[in-house]
Amino acid sequence: MMRDFYDVVSSRRSVRVFEEKPVDLASIRKVLEVATLAPSAHNSQPARFFVIPKGDVRTQMVNRMSEEYLRDLLDDGGAQEPAEETVSRSRKLLMSAPVLILAALTMKDMWKYSDDERNLHEHTMAVQSTAAAIQNALLAACAEGLASCWLCAPLFTKRAIVETLELGDDVEPQAFILLGHTSVPPEMPQRKPLEEIVQML
Ligand SMILES: Cc1cc2nc3c(=O)[nH]c(=O)nc-3n(C[C@H](O)[C@H](O)[C@H](O)COP(=O)(O)O)c2cc1C
Repeated sequence: MMRDFYDVVSSRRSVRVFEEKPVDLASIRKVLEVATLAPSAHNSQPARFFVIPKGDVRTQMVNRMSEEYLRDLLDDGGAQEPAEETVSRSRKLLMSAPVLILAALTMKDMWKYSDDERNLHEHTMAVQSTAAAIQNALLAACAEGLASCWLCAPLFTKRAIVETLELGDDVEPQAFILLGHTSVPPEMPQRKPLEEIVQML
């Protein structure tokens, strides 16, 4: 039975604890197909997705990311033990997610301008287009009965990811999408009231 659109939008939650149950390949494909239906600047479709299975490559990537994350936390002045706990929590989540998808962008088919300012705007459009595709993916996951989460870690560990996964030079990691099953979806975190975020001019 198709879930009502508003039901899907309001019941999607960021889930950070998954059951071990595997995810059907058909559902993963559906989620990625729906991602491609998102709007994109000039319809250039800059988003790229890499499904990273559990195994050696995921372990190597997460190990390198963890090293960088720990170094950053210590450089920020954090104490060793809490920093290690934070990294260990992040590592556990990345290793345990039944499906780990890297969402990245490429500027390959985006427009090129003769000045830096417009090139920067073009890059922002690629980021926005990729974010729209990610949101479509999360909603499709919810419609498929899957739990999901958007993680920003790849923004901070681009090189570790590109090198371990041997991605092309043009691939810019943006986010991870975690997919899986959960028995206890979290409560909806509070939202700001419309009056605070909207002005009817
Ligand atoms: C750009 C972006 C980055 C995010 N990064 C993380 C993250 O690194 N770790 C995490 O646990 N959740 C992350 N989230 C999920 C948010 O924390 C979550 O959407 C927010 O708390 C609202 O909860 P909800 O998604 O259940 O409505 C991210 C969401 C977005 C849109």
